[in-house]
Amino acid sequence: MTTNSIHGMWSSRLMFILAASGSAVGLGNIWRFPYVAGENGGGAFVMVYLVCIFLIGIPIMVSEIIIGRSARKSPINAMAAAASKSAVSMKWQLVGWMGVVAGFMILSFYAVIAGWVLSYVFQLGSGVFTDSSSELAEGIFSNFVGNVWEVLAWFTIFLVSTILITARGVSSGLEVAVKYLMPILFCLLIALVIYSATTSGHFMEGANFLFSLNFEKLTWNSILVAMGQAFFTLSLGMGAIMAYGAYMPKDASVIGTATTIALMDTGVALMSGLVIFPLVFANGLESAAGPGLMFITLPLAFGQMAGGQLFGCIFFVLVAFAAITSAISLIEPAIAWIVEKQKTSRHTAALTVGGCVWLLGLGSVFSTNIWSDVFIFDDMTFLDSMDYFTNNIILPLGGIFIAVFAGWVLSNKILDNELMHDGRYYPIWKFLCRFIAPVGVSVVFIMALLQGK
Ligand code: PHE
Repeated sequence: MTTNSIHGMWSSRLMFILAASGSAVGLGNIWRFPYVAGENGGGAFVMVYLVCIFLIGIPIMVSEIIIGRSARKSPINAMAAAASKSAVSMKWQLVGWMGVVAGFMILSFYAVIAGWVLSYVFQLGSGVFTDSSSELAEGIFSNFVGNVWEVLAWFTIFLVSTILITARGVSSGLEVAVKYLMPILFCLLIALVIYSATTSGHFMEGANFLFSLNFEKLTWNSILVAMGQAFFTLSLGMGAIMAYGAYMPKDASVIGTATTIALMDTGVALMSGLVIFPLVFANGLESAAGPGLMFITLPLAFGQMAGGQLFGCIFFVLVAFAAITSAISLIEPAIAWIVEKQKTSRHTAALTVGGCVWLLGLGSVFSTNIWSDVFIFDDMTFLDSMDYFTNNIILPLGGIFIAVFAGWVLSNKILDNELMHDGRYYPIWKFLCRFIAPVGVSVVFIMALLQGK
């Protein structure tokens, strides 16, 4: 039996893979992965991150696809439908609600960082980084983020673009962007890895930093951050993949598809690390520089390479596209739900959601300028706190609920039907979902809480 979603369908399994990778690959890979790996000492952190991707991330991604595809509705209604078909409490739809809230919170700071990226397209294009020094690159970055009006303007431009594309409908807006731009981004990244390997003179140092197992640097908090990064980078725990799963054709293997997406995503993150860390060491920069890391290292490298003005500009354009394809998936759960519930058009829904996200985003816009000394938790600004709280707490929590729901609650009829192309991997998935994911996430939560920061 095949049913379709009222929001449209992906034209093929490949299209689903592209769209879900479009969601997964974004600032999380190119901006966030290197900077959190740097702050947490590299090596062992990266190892924990990889373990989380494979043992926890992939099973949860499969669960999200199954729930979304079996119901063909927005996450909130999909959870409700799956709960009702499995004859359990309708309270399970709260998981969908939690995801919608997380999506708003994440997009509110995500769009600010994407705004920085947009501004860098022009800064690189203007040639200010040609032959620049690390002091100059650091100066340009702190001047820019210190200027509230500029940051606000770029944030607004990015958010408006996201809303315009989302309003057009997921497939017509997105299919084009992911089909052409993602592969180009991939190729440019490979070229940058080669550049960094051949010219920085510090490639091995960078690779060592990323892959040597320095377990003494690992704390429970950094394990929590590695796990949070795994959720964030795969777009898990808040319904983005569930929403996209609702538009996925029925005849595709779910586990194979999820694994492909995870591998691609991980590839992009590791490549970004291999580009950035050799540059960090070659230029005597600080590996724990925080959120500005990519905005200081990459322009420096482009400034030194032949044709760097043009390549740098193109590279940041592609990062902006990667960010937009992720941003779209952050609000799709909310928009699809409003359309289903209120019977309004996608346009109205997109505008409403966009307005709320814009307001919330002001806090993150101000975090690097007029509110730069306002701290919410510890030494974290508004932006840092939103980022920490959503990625390290809400997403893993949402993930546990989804794993438990798919592994223990969802009726066998739905599971058998959804996983009929997955044969021998089915029991492995079930084991990971029932035991490893929930227990793993809970242990990390509890230990991080007990140990403190
Ligand atoms: N995965 C995206 C990235 O790495 C961010 C994202 C998180 C998108 C959660 C959707 C949901 O940039």
